[in-house]
Amino acid sequence: MFLRRCSVESPSNCVPLSTLILHRLFSSNSNDDVQKVFGVLSSTSTPEQLKQSLKSTGVFLSNDIIDQVLKRVRFSHGNPSQTLEFFRYTGRRKGFYHTAFSLDTMLYILGRSRMFGHVWDLLIEARRKDQALITVRTVMVVLGRIAKVCSVRQTVESFRKFRKLVPDFDTNCFNALLRTLCQEKSMTDARNVYHSLKHGFRPNLQTFNILLSGWKTPQDADGFFKEMKEMGVTPDVVTYNSLVDVYCKGREIEKAYKLLDEMRDRDLSPDVITYTCIIGGLGLIGQPDKARNVLKEMKEYGCFPDVAAYNAAIRNFCITKRLGDAYGLVEEMVGKGFSPNATTYNLFFRVFYWSNDWQSSWNLYMRMMVEGCLPNTQSCMFLVRLFKRYEKVDMAMQLWGDMVEKGFGSYTLVSDVLFDLLCDMGKLGEAEKCFLEMVEKGQKPSNVSFRRIKVLMELANRHEALQSLTQKMAMFKRPLHHDQSTVSPIDTSGSLSTQCQLMMAK
Ligand SMILES: *[C@@H]1O[C@H](CO)[C@@H](O)[C@H](O)[C@H]1NC(C)=O
Ligand SMILES: *[C@@H]1O[C@H](CO)[C@@H](O)[C@H](O)[C@H]1NC(C)=O
Repeated sequence: MFLRRCSVESPSNCVPLSTLILHRLFSSNSNDDVQKVFGVLSSTSTPEQLKQSLKSTGVFLSNDIIDQVLKRVRFSHGNPSQTLEFFRYTGRRKGFYHTAFSLDTMLYILGRSRMFGHVWDLLIEARRKDQALITVRTVMVVLGRIAKVCSVRQTVESFRKFRKLVPDFDTNCFNALLRTLCQEKSMTDARNVYHSLKHGFRPNLQTFNILLSGWKTPQDADGFFKEMKEMGVTPDVVTYNSLVDVYCKGREIEKAYKLLDEMRDRDLSPDVITYTCIIGGLGLIGQPDKARNVLKEMKEYGCFPDVAAYNAAIRNFCITKRLGDAYGLVEEMVGKGFSPNATTYNLFFRVFYWSNDWQSSWNLYMRMMVEGCLPNTQSCMFLVRLFKRYEKVDMAMQLWGDMVEKGFGSYTLVSDVLFDLLCDMGKLGEAEKCFLEMVEKGQKPSNVSFRRIKVLMELANRHEALQSLTQKMAMFKRPLHHDQSTVSPIDTSGSLSTQCQLMMAK
Protein backbone atom coordinates (compact mmCIF):
# COMPACT_ATOMS: atom_id res chain seq x y z
CA MET A 1 0.00 0.00 0.00
CA PHE A 2 2.82 2.36 0.83
CA LEU A 3 4.52 1.52 -2.46
CA ARG A 4 1.41 2.31 -4.42
CA ARG A 5 1.08 5.62 -2.67
CA CYS A 6 4.68 6.42 -3.51
CA SER A 7 4.31 5.72 -7.17
CA VAL A 8 1.33 8.03 -7.41
CA GLU A 9 2.84 10.87 -5.48
CA SER A 10 6.07 12.66 -6.30
CA PRO A 11 9.23 10.77 -5.30
CA SER A 12 10.15 13.35 -2.69
CA ASN A 13 7.03 12.32 -0.79
CA CYS A 14 8.50 8.87 -0.41
CA VAL A 15 10.96 10.02 2.20
CA PRO A 16 8.47 11.10 4.82
CA LEU A 17 6.45 8.00 4.04
CA SER A 18 9.36 5.71 4.81
CA THR A 19 10.00 7.58 8.02
CA LEU A 20 6.36 7.03 8.74
CA ILE A 21 6.86 3.28 8.31
CA LEU A 22 9.89 3.35 10.58
CA HIS A 23 7.90 5.30 13.08
CA ARG A 24 5.14 2.69 12.92
CA LEU A 25 7.68 -0.06 13.57
CA PHE A 26 8.94 1.78 16.58
CA SER A 27 5.56 2.62 17.89
CA SER A 28 4.77 -1.06 18.28
CA ASN A 29 6.99 -0.71 21.34
CA SER A 30 5.52 2.58 22.35
CA ASN A 31 3.48 1.06 25.17
CA ASP A 32 6.65 0.02 26.94
CA ASP A 33 8.15 3.44 26.33
CA VAL A 34 5.09 5.19 27.69
CA GLN A 35 5.21 2.96 30.73
CA LYS A 36 8.90 3.75 31.29
CA VAL A 37 8.41 7.50 31.03
CA PHE A 38 5.30 7.42 33.15
CA GLY A 39 7.27 5.44 35.74
CA VAL A 40 9.89 8.19 35.81
CA LEU A 41 7.22 10.85 36.40
CA SER A 42 5.80 8.92 39.33
CA SER A 43 9.09 7.90 40.94
CA THR A 44 11.05 11.15 40.83
CA SER A 45 10.42 14.29 42.80
CA THR A 46 12.84 16.96 41.59
CA PRO A 47 13.48 18.43 38.13
CA GLU A 48 17.07 17.17 38.25
CA GLN A 49 16.09 13.60 39.05
CA LEU A 50 13.48 13.79 36.34
CA LYS A 51 15.97 14.82 33.65
CA GLN A 52 18.53 12.23 34.73
CA SER A 53 16.03 9.41 34.81
CA LEU A 54 14.48 10.39 31.48
CA LYS A 55 17.90 10.31 29.87
CA SER A 56 18.72 6.94 31.33
CA THR A 57 15.54 5.38 29.89
CA GLY A 58 16.89 6.09 26.42
CA VAL A 59 13.35 6.62 25.16
CA PHE A 60 13.00 9.09 22.29
CA LEU A 61 10.41 11.57 23.49
CA SER A 62 8.35 12.02 20.32
CA ASN A 63 5.06 13.89 20.14
CA ASP A 64 3.27 10.58 20.12
CA ILE A 65 4.98 9.33 23.28
CA ILE A 66 4.38 12.64 25.06
CA ASP A 67 0.69 12.61 24.08
CA GLN A 68 0.32 9.14 25.49
CA VAL A 69 2.26 9.84 28.68
CA LEU A 70 0.10 12.89 29.39
CA LYS A 71 -3.03 10.90 28.71
CA ARG A 72 -1.83 8.29 31.19
CA VAL A 73 -1.16 10.98 33.81
CA ARG A 74 -4.63 12.37 33.22
CA PHE A 75 -6.42 9.07 33.71
CA SER A 76 -4.33 7.79 36.56
CA HIS A 77 -4.18 11.12 38.39
CA GLY A 78 -0.40 11.39 38.25
CA ASN A 79 1.76 14.05 39.87
CA PRO A 80 0.94 17.41 38.20
CA SER A 81 4.15 19.23 39.18
CA GLN A 82 6.50 16.59 37.76
CA THR A 83 4.31 16.37 34.68
CA LEU A 84 4.61 20.10 34.13
CA GLU A 85 8.36 19.81 34.55
CA PHE A 86 8.34 17.02 31.95
CA PHE A 87 6.21 19.07 29.57
CA ARG A 88 8.53 22.08 29.81
CA TYR A 89 11.70 20.01 29.59
CA THR A 90 10.59 18.20 26.42
CA GLY A 91 9.28 21.46 24.94
CA ARG A 92 12.63 23.24 25.39
CA ARG A 93 14.40 20.89 22.98
CA LYS A 94 15.60 22.67 19.88
CA GLY A 95 13.10 22.68 17.05
CA PHE A 96 10.52 20.74 19.04
CA TYR A 97 6.88 21.73 19.14
CA HIS A 98 4.22 20.19 21.35
CA THR A 99 0.95 19.02 19.83
CA ALA A 100 -2.32 20.79 20.59
CA PHE A 101 -3.44 17.59 22.31
CA SER A 102 -0.40 17.64 24.61
CA LEU A 103 -1.02 21.26 25.53
CA ASP A 104 -4.71 20.72 26.27
CA THR A 105 -4.03 17.61 28.32
CA MET A 106 -1.33 19.39 30.32
CA LEU A 107 -3.70 22.29 30.98
CA TYR A 108 -6.40 19.88 32.05
CA ILE A 109 -4.05 18.20 34.52
CA LEU A 110 -3.00 21.55 35.99
CA GLY A 111 -6.57 22.84 36.11
CA ARG A 112 -7.78 19.73 37.87
CA SER A 113 -5.22 20.37 40.61
CA ARG A 114 -6.22 24.03 40.67
CA MET A 115 -2.78 25.15 39.62
CA PHE A 116 -4.33 28.05 37.74
CA GLY A 117 -1.24 30.24 37.93
CA HIS A 118 0.67 27.61 35.96
CA VAL A 119 -2.23 27.32 33.52
CA TRP A 120 -1.88 30.96 32.50
CA ASP A 121 1.92 30.85 32.47
CA LEU A 122 1.80 27.87 30.16
CA LEU A 123 -0.70 29.57 27.86
CA ILE A 124 1.50 32.66 27.63
CA GLU A 125 4.49 30.46 26.81
CA ALA A 126 2.46 28.66 24.16
CA ARG A 127 1.37 31.95 22.59
CA ARG A 128 4.99 32.98 22.29
CA LYS A 129 6.14 29.73 20.78
CA ASP A 130 3.30 28.40 18.64
CA GLN A 131 0.02 30.21 19.05
CA ALA A 132 -1.76 27.82 16.67
CA LEU A 133 -1.76 25.27 19.50
CA ILE A 134 -4.28 27.36 21.41
CA THR A 135 -7.66 26.40 20.04
CA VAL A 136 -11.34 26.44 20.96
CA ARG A 137 -10.75 23.09 22.60
CA THR A 138 -8.15 24.76 24.84
CA VAL A 139 -10.72 27.38 25.82
CA MET A 140 -13.20 24.61 26.69
CA VAL A 141 -10.65 22.66 28.72
CA VAL A 142 -9.43 25.62 30.76
CA LEU A 143 -12.82 27.24 31.36
CA GLY A 144 -14.29 23.87 32.31
CA ARG A 145 -11.78 23.43 35.11
CA ILE A 146 -12.17 27.02 36.28
CA ALA A 147 -15.97 26.94 36.23
CA LYS A 148 -15.90 23.80 38.38
CA VAL A 149 -14.38 25.62 41.33
CA CYS A 150 -14.69 29.37 40.71
CA SER A 151 -17.66 31.71 40.32
CA VAL A 152 -19.47 32.58 37.10
CA ARG A 153 -17.91 36.05 37.18
CA GLN A 154 -14.43 34.57 37.52
CA THR A 155 -15.12 32.15 34.68
CA VAL A 156 -16.18 35.03 32.45
CA GLU A 157 -13.09 37.03 33.43
CA SER A 158 -10.95 34.05 32.50
CA PHE A 159 -12.74 33.86 29.20
CA ARG A 160 -11.85 37.49 28.50
CA LYS A 161 -8.18 36.71 29.07
CA PHE A 162 -8.30 34.37 26.10
CA ARG A 163 -8.80 37.36 23.80
CA LYS A 164 -5.05 37.89 23.86
CA LEU A 165 -4.19 34.19 23.76
CA VAL A 166 -6.24 32.40 21.16
CA PRO A 167 -5.53 33.29 17.50
CA ASP A 168 -9.22 33.66 16.64
CA PHE A 169 -11.25 34.95 19.52
CA ASP A 170 -14.53 34.34 17.75
CA THR A 171 -18.05 32.98 18.14
CA ASN A 172 -16.69 29.46 18.60
CA CYS A 173 -14.90 30.63 21.75
CA PHE A 174 -18.04 32.39 22.93
CA ASN A 175 -19.94 29.15 22.39
CA ALA A 176 -17.29 27.29 24.38
CA LEU A 177 -17.94 29.66 27.30
CA LEU A 178 -21.71 29.18 27.07
CA ARG A 179 -21.39 25.43 26.85
CA THR A 180 -19.12 25.40 29.91
CA LEU A 181 -21.60 27.48 31.87
CA CYS A 182 -24.47 25.18 30.90
CA GLN A 183 -22.47 22.16 32.02
CA GLU A 184 -20.82 23.48 35.17
CA LYS A 185 -23.15 26.25 36.31
CA SER A 186 -26.75 26.74 35.19
CA MET A 187 -28.81 27.54 32.13
CA THR A 188 -29.74 30.85 33.75
CA ASP A 189 -26.08 31.78 34.16
CA ALA A 190 -25.45 30.91 30.53
CA ARG A 191 -28.41 33.03 29.47
CA ASN A 192 -27.29 36.05 31.51
CA VAL A 193 -23.76 35.83 30.20
CA TYR A 194 -25.09 35.49 26.67
CA HIS A 195 -27.00 38.75 27.00
CA SER A 196 -24.09 40.63 28.49
CA LEU A 197 -21.57 39.52 25.87
CA LYS A 198 -23.62 38.92 22.73
CA HIS A 199 -22.77 42.29 21.18
CA GLY A 200 -19.12 41.37 21.00
CA PHE A 201 -19.79 38.27 18.91
CA ARG A 202 -21.98 37.10 16.09
CA PRO A 203 -24.19 34.47 17.70
CA ASN A 204 -24.68 31.54 15.32
CA LEU A 205 -26.77 28.38 15.10
CA GLN A 206 -24.49 26.63 17.58
CA THR A 207 -24.92 29.46 20.09
CA PHE A 208 -28.68 29.11 20.07
CA ASN A 209 -28.65 25.34 20.10
CA ILE A 210 -26.53 25.46 23.26
CA LEU A 211 -28.85 27.98 24.89
CA LEU A 212 -32.04 26.22 23.85
CA SER A 213 -31.22 22.77 25.13
CA GLY A 214 -32.40 21.81 28.58
CA TRP A 215 -34.96 24.51 29.31
CA LYS A 216 -37.73 23.68 31.73
CA THR A 217 -40.36 26.17 30.61
CA PRO A 218 -41.55 27.04 27.11
CA GLN A 219 -41.42 30.79 27.82
CA ASP A 220 -37.65 30.82 28.27
CA ALA A 221 -37.03 28.75 25.17
CA ASP A 222 -39.48 30.85 23.19
CA GLY A 223 -37.57 34.02 23.97
CA PHE A 224 -34.37 32.62 22.54
CA PHE A 225 -36.12 31.19 19.52
CA LYS A 226 -37.52 34.64 18.75
CA GLU A 227 -34.15 36.28 19.24
CA MET A 228 -32.57 33.70 16.99
CA LYS A 229 -34.99 34.46 14.19
CA GLU A 230 -34.52 38.21 14.67
CA MET A 231 -30.79 37.76 14.25
CA GLY A 232 -31.38 35.93 11.00
CA VAL A 233 -30.01 32.62 12.25
CA THR A 234 -31.76 29.66 10.61
CA PRO A 235 -32.84 26.93 13.03
CA ASP A 236 -32.02 23.28 12.32
CA VAL A 237 -33.46 19.98 13.54
CA VAL A 238 -31.53 20.21 16.81
CA THR A 239 -33.04 23.64 17.50
CA TYR A 240 -36.55 22.39 16.80
CA ASN A 241 -36.06 19.27 18.89
CA SER A 242 -35.16 21.41 21.90
CA LEU A 243 -38.35 23.40 21.42
CA VAL A 244 -40.57 20.39 20.78
CA ASP A 245 -39.12 18.80 23.91
CA VAL A 246 -39.82 21.78 26.12
CA TYR A 247 -43.41 22.10 24.79
CA CYS A 248 -44.08 18.40 25.25
CA LYS A 249 -42.75 18.46 28.79
CA GLY A 250 -44.95 21.52 29.40
CA ARG A 251 -47.95 19.52 28.08
CA GLU A 252 -48.49 21.99 25.25
CA ILE A 253 -48.81 19.32 22.65
CA GLU A 254 -50.71 21.49 20.16
CA LYS A 255 -47.83 23.94 20.02
CA ALA A 256 -45.43 21.05 19.57
CA TYR A 257 -47.44 19.83 16.59
CA LYS A 258 -47.35 23.34 15.12
CA LEU A 259 -43.58 23.22 15.33
CA LEU A 260 -43.58 19.94 13.41
CA ASP A 261 -45.58 21.64 10.65
CA GLU A 262 -43.16 24.53 10.68
CA MET A 263 -40.28 22.09 10.34
CA ARG A 264 -41.83 20.43 7.33
CA ASP A 265 -42.51 23.84 5.78
CA ARG A 266 -38.82 24.53 6.07
CA ASP A 267 -37.94 21.17 4.55
CA LEU A 268 -36.54 19.92 7.82
CA SER A 269 -37.60 16.34 8.53
CA PRO A 270 -38.53 15.63 12.12
CA ASP A 271 -36.28 12.81 13.29
CA VAL A 272 -36.68 9.99 15.77
CA ILE A 273 -35.83 12.35 18.63
CA THR A 274 -38.62 14.73 17.60
CA TYR A 275 -41.17 11.91 17.52
CA THR A 276 -39.95 10.48 20.81
CA CYS A 277 -40.60 13.86 22.46
CA ILE A 278 -44.13 13.84 21.01
CA ILE A 279 -44.73 10.32 22.29
CA GLY A 280 -43.61 11.40 25.78
CA GLY A 281 -45.80 14.52 25.60
CA LEU A 282 -48.88 12.52 24.64
CA GLY A 283 -48.21 10.24 27.61
CA LEU A 284 -48.12 13.22 29.94
CA ILE A 285 -51.58 14.32 28.84
CA GLY A 286 -52.94 10.79 29.22
CA GLN A 287 -53.12 9.71 25.58
CA PRO A 288 -51.08 6.53 25.34
CA ASP A 289 -53.06 5.18 22.37
CA LYS A 290 -52.43 8.29 20.33
CA ALA A 291 -48.77 7.99 21.25
CA ARG A 292 -48.68 4.42 20.01
CA ASN A 293 -50.10 5.64 16.72
CA VAL A 294 -47.18 8.06 16.41
CA LEU A 295 -44.95 4.99 16.14
CA LYS A 296 -46.87 4.03 12.99
CA GLU A 297 -47.17 7.58 11.70
CA MET A 298 -43.46 8.28 11.87
CA LYS A 299 -42.75 5.26 9.70
CA GLU A 300 -44.96 6.77 7.01
CA TYR A 301 -42.61 9.75 7.05
CA GLY A 302 -39.67 7.39 6.62
CA CYS A 303 -38.47 7.69 10.20
CA PHE A 304 -38.12 4.42 12.09
CA PRO A 305 -38.66 4.08 15.84
CA ASP A 306 -35.66 3.02 17.94
CA VAL A 307 -35.41 1.64 21.47
CA ALA A 308 -35.89 5.09 23.00
CA ALA A 309 -39.08 5.70 20.98
CA TYR A 310 -40.49 2.32 22.00
CA ASN A 311 -39.52 2.90 25.61
CA ALA A 312 -41.41 6.20 25.58
CA ALA A 313 -44.55 4.52 24.21
CA ILE A 314 -44.23 1.62 26.67
CA ARG A 315 -43.77 4.05 29.57
CA ASN A 316 -47.12 5.66 28.72
CA PHE A 317 -48.95 2.34 29.05
CA CYS A 318 -47.08 1.49 32.24
CA ILE A 319 -48.09 4.80 33.79
CA THR A 320 -51.73 4.01 33.11
CA LYS A 321 -51.18 0.39 34.27
CA ARG A 322 -52.20 -1.04 30.90
CA LEU A 323 -49.57 -3.71 31.08
CA GLY A 324 -51.07 -5.83 28.28
CA ASP A 325 -50.60 -2.99 25.83
CA ALA A 326 -47.16 -2.32 27.21
CA TYR A 327 -46.15 -5.98 26.71
CA GLY A 328 -47.60 -5.83 23.21
CA LEU A 329 -45.17 -3.06 22.36
CA VAL A 330 -42.27 -5.00 23.83
CA GLU A 331 -43.18 -7.91 21.56
CA GLU A 332 -43.43 -5.57 18.57
CA MET A 333 -40.07 -4.09 19.42
CA VAL A 334 -38.46 -7.51 19.71
CA GLY A 335 -40.10 -8.49 16.40
CA LYS A 336 -38.36 -5.50 14.80
CA GLY A 337 -35.02 -6.78 16.06
CA PHE A 338 -34.62 -4.40 19.01
CA SER A 339 -33.72 -5.77 22.42
CA PRO A 340 -35.42 -4.22 25.42
CA ASN A 341 -32.77 -2.74 27.72
CA ALA A 342 -32.70 -2.13 31.46
CA THR A 343 -34.67 1.08 30.98
CA THR A 344 -37.48 -0.90 29.34
CA TYR A 345 -37.55 -3.46 32.15
CA ASN A 346 -37.49 -0.77 34.81
CA LEU A 347 -40.77 0.62 33.47
CA PHE A 348 -42.37 -2.69 34.47
CA PHE A 349 -40.39 -3.10 37.69
CA ARG A 350 -41.71 0.26 38.81
CA VAL A 351 -45.33 -0.84 38.31
CA PHE A 352 -44.72 -4.12 40.15
CA TYR A 353 -42.93 -2.31 42.92
CA TRP A 354 -45.80 0.06 43.57
CA SER A 355 -48.36 -2.76 43.41
CA ASN A 356 -46.24 -4.95 45.71
CA ASP A 357 -46.13 -7.67 43.08
CA TRP A 358 -42.93 -9.48 44.07
CA GLN A 359 -43.88 -12.56 42.05
CA SER A 360 -44.11 -10.67 38.73
CA SER A 361 -40.92 -8.81 39.61
CA TRP A 362 -39.14 -12.08 40.16
CA ASN A 363 -40.47 -13.55 36.91
CA LEU A 364 -39.40 -10.50 34.96
CA TYR A 365 -35.98 -10.60 36.56
CA MET A 366 -35.63 -14.24 35.49
CA ARG A 367 -36.66 -13.33 31.95
CA MET A 368 -34.13 -10.53 31.93
CA MET A 369 -31.32 -12.85 32.92
CA VAL A 370 -32.39 -15.40 30.31
CA GLU A 371 -32.41 -12.69 27.64
CA GLY A 372 -28.96 -11.61 28.75
CA CYS A 373 -29.97 -8.05 29.63
CA LEU A 374 -28.13 -6.94 32.76
CA PRO A 375 -30.18 -5.01 35.32
CA ASN A 376 -28.88 -1.60 36.37
CA THR A 377 -28.86 -0.10 39.85
CA GLN A 378 -32.45 1.09 39.56
CA SER A 379 -33.68 -2.40 38.62
CA CYS A 380 -31.77 -3.89 41.56
CA MET A 381 -33.26 -1.37 43.97
CA PHE A 382 -36.84 -2.09 42.88
CA LEU A 383 -36.15 -5.79 43.33
CA VAL A 384 -34.26 -5.78 46.60
CA ARG A 385 -36.70 -3.40 48.30
CA LEU A 386 -39.60 -5.60 47.33
CA PHE A 387 -37.75 -8.72 48.50
CA LYS A 388 -37.09 -7.01 51.80
CA ARG A 389 -40.70 -5.97 52.23
CA TYR A 390 -41.85 -9.56 51.60
CA GLU A 391 -38.90 -11.19 53.41
CA LYS A 392 -37.79 -13.13 50.32
CA VAL A 393 -34.30 -13.97 51.53
CA ASP A 394 -33.57 -16.55 48.82
CA MET A 395 -34.53 -14.19 46.02
CA ALA A 396 -32.47 -11.38 47.50
CA MET A 397 -29.50 -13.72 47.87
CA GLN A 398 -29.80 -14.84 44.27
CA LEU A 399 -29.93 -11.23 43.08
CA TRP A 400 -26.84 -10.43 45.13
CA GLY A 401 -25.08 -13.54 43.82
CA ASP A 402 -25.81 -12.51 40.23
CA MET A 403 -24.59 -9.00 40.93
CA VAL A 404 -21.32 -10.29 42.32
CA GLU A 405 -20.87 -12.82 39.54
CA LYS A 406 -21.84 -10.63 36.61
CA GLY A 407 -20.82 -7.26 38.00
CA PHE A 408 -23.97 -5.15 37.67
CA GLY A 409 -25.67 -2.70 40.03
CA SER A 410 -24.35 -0.65 42.92
CA TYR A 411 -23.08 -2.85 45.76
CA THR A 412 -23.27 0.05 48.17
CA LEU A 413 -26.94 0.86 47.61
CA VAL A 414 -28.20 -2.69 47.26
CA SER A 415 -26.21 -4.07 50.20
CA ASP A 416 -27.72 -1.57 52.63
CA VAL A 417 -31.20 -2.97 51.95
CA LEU A 418 -29.91 -6.52 51.76
CA PHE A 419 -28.09 -6.37 55.13
CA ASP A 420 -31.22 -4.89 56.65
CA LEU A 421 -33.23 -7.84 55.42
CA LEU A 422 -30.66 -10.43 56.46
CA CYS A 423 -30.29 -8.92 59.93
CA ASP A 424 -34.07 -8.66 60.36
CA MET A 425 -34.32 -12.34 59.54
CA GLY A 426 -31.33 -13.28 61.69
CA LYS A 427 -29.42 -14.66 58.69
CA LEU A 428 -26.01 -13.98 60.14
CA GLY A 429 -24.11 -16.45 57.96
CA GLU A 430 -25.55 -14.95 54.78
CA ALA A 431 -24.81 -11.44 55.99
CA GLU A 432 -21.20 -12.38 56.68
CA LYS A 433 -20.87 -13.99 53.24
CA CYS A 434 -22.23 -10.89 51.44
CA PHE A 435 -20.05 -8.65 53.57
CA LEU A 436 -16.92 -10.55 52.56
CA GLU A 437 -17.91 -10.64 48.89
CA MET A 438 -18.40 -6.92 48.94
CA VAL A 439 -15.05 -6.26 50.57
CA GLU A 440 -13.48 -8.60 48.04
CA LYS A 441 -14.78 -6.24 45.33
CA GLY A 442 -13.10 -3.32 47.08
CA GLN A 443 -16.41 -1.83 48.22
CA LYS A 444 -16.96 -0.60 51.76
CA PRO A 445 -20.11 -1.77 53.55
CA SER A 446 -21.81 1.18 55.23
CA ASN A 447 -21.24 1.95 58.91
CA VAL A 448 -24.93 1.40 59.59
CA SER A 449 -24.87 -2.08 58.06
CA PHE A 450 -21.67 -2.93 59.86
CA ARG A 451 -23.11 -1.87 63.21
CA ARG A 452 -26.19 -4.03 62.71
CA ILE A 453 -24.10 -7.06 61.84
CA LYS A 454 -21.80 -6.34 64.77
CA VAL A 455 -24.64 -6.33 67.28
CA LEU A 456 -25.91 -9.66 65.99
CA MET A 457 -22.49 -11.23 66.00
CA GLU A 458 -21.90 -10.11 69.55
CA LEU A 459 -25.21 -11.65 70.59
CA ALA A 460 -24.27 -14.87 68.82
CA ASN A 461 -20.85 -14.89 70.47
CA ARG A 462 -19.12 -14.97 67.11
CA HIS A 463 -16.20 -12.90 68.30
CA GLU A 464 -13.62 -14.22 65.89
CA ALA A 465 -15.72 -13.59 62.82
CA LEU A 466 -16.53 -10.14 64.15
CA GLN A 467 -12.89 -9.35 64.67
CA SER A 468 -12.14 -10.30 61.10
CA LEU A 469 -14.93 -8.06 59.76
CA THR A 470 -13.80 -5.20 61.99
CA GLN A 471 -10.30 -5.44 60.55
CA LYS A 472 -11.72 -5.39 57.03
CA MET A 473 -13.75 -2.28 57.82
CA ALA A 474 -10.66 -0.61 59.24
CA MET A 475 -8.81 -1.14 55.99
CA PHE A 476 -11.18 1.28 54.31
CA LYS A 477 -10.42 3.98 56.86
CA ARG A 478 -6.88 4.47 55.67
CA PRO A 479 -6.85 7.60 53.54
CA LEU A 480 -6.68 6.61 49.92
CA HIS A 481 -4.53 8.42 47.40
CA HIS A 482 -5.63 11.98 47.92
CA ASP A 483 -6.91 13.43 44.71
CA GLN A 484 -7.32 17.16 44.85
CA SER A 485 -10.12 17.18 42.33
CA THR A 486 -12.36 15.26 44.69
CA VAL A 487 -11.94 17.78 47.48
CA SER A 488 -15.29 19.45 47.66
CA PRO A 489 -15.16 23.22 47.23
CA ILE A 490 -16.84 23.57 50.61
CA ASP A 491 -13.97 21.89 52.47
CA THR A 492 -11.43 24.40 51.29
CA SER A 493 -13.59 27.41 50.56
CA GLY A 494 -11.12 29.80 52.12
CA SER A 495 -8.06 28.77 50.19
CA LEU A 496 -10.09 28.09 47.08
CA SER A 497 -11.47 31.58 46.68
CA THR A 498 -7.92 32.80 47.22
CA GLN A 499 -6.81 30.55 44.39
CA CYS A 500 -9.50 31.94 42.11
CA GLN A 501 -8.59 35.50 43.03
CA LEU A 502 -4.89 34.88 42.57
CA MET A 503 -5.68 33.45 39.20
CA MET A 504 -7.57 36.60 38.29
CA ALA A 505 -4.80 38.86 39.47
CA LYS A 506 -2.29 37.32 37.08
C1 LIG B 1 -31.84 2.01 26.70
O1 LIG B 1 -31.87 2.52 25.38
C2 LIG B 1 -32.20 3.89 25.28
C3 LIG B 1 -32.22 4.24 23.82
O2 LIG B 1 -31.06 3.90 23.17
C4 LIG B 1 -31.17 4.73 26.03
O3 LIG B 1 -31.53 6.10 25.99
C5 LIG B 1 -31.08 4.26 27.45
O4 LIG B 1 -30.08 4.97 28.12
C6 LIG B 1 -30.79 2.76 27.50
N1 LIG B 1 -30.79 2.33 28.87
C7 LIG B 1 -29.77 1.73 29.44
C8 LIG B 1 -29.92 1.36 30.87
O5 LIG B 1 -28.73 1.49 28.86
C1 LIG C 1 -17.82 5.37 59.55
O1 LIG C 1 -17.19 5.17 60.78
C2 LIG C 1 -15.82 5.54 60.82
C3 LIG C 1 -15.24 5.18 62.17
O2 LIG C 1 -16.13 4.55 62.99
C4 LIG C 1 -15.70 7.03 60.55
O3 LIG C 1 -14.34 7.42 60.52
C5 LIG C 1 -16.34 7.36 59.22
O4 LIG C 1 -16.31 8.75 58.99
C6 LIG C 1 -17.76 6.85 59.18
N1 LIG C 1 -18.28 7.04 57.85
C7 LIG C 1 -19.45 7.54 57.60
C8 LIG C 1 -19.82 7.69 56.18
O5 LIG C 1 -20.20 7.88 58.49
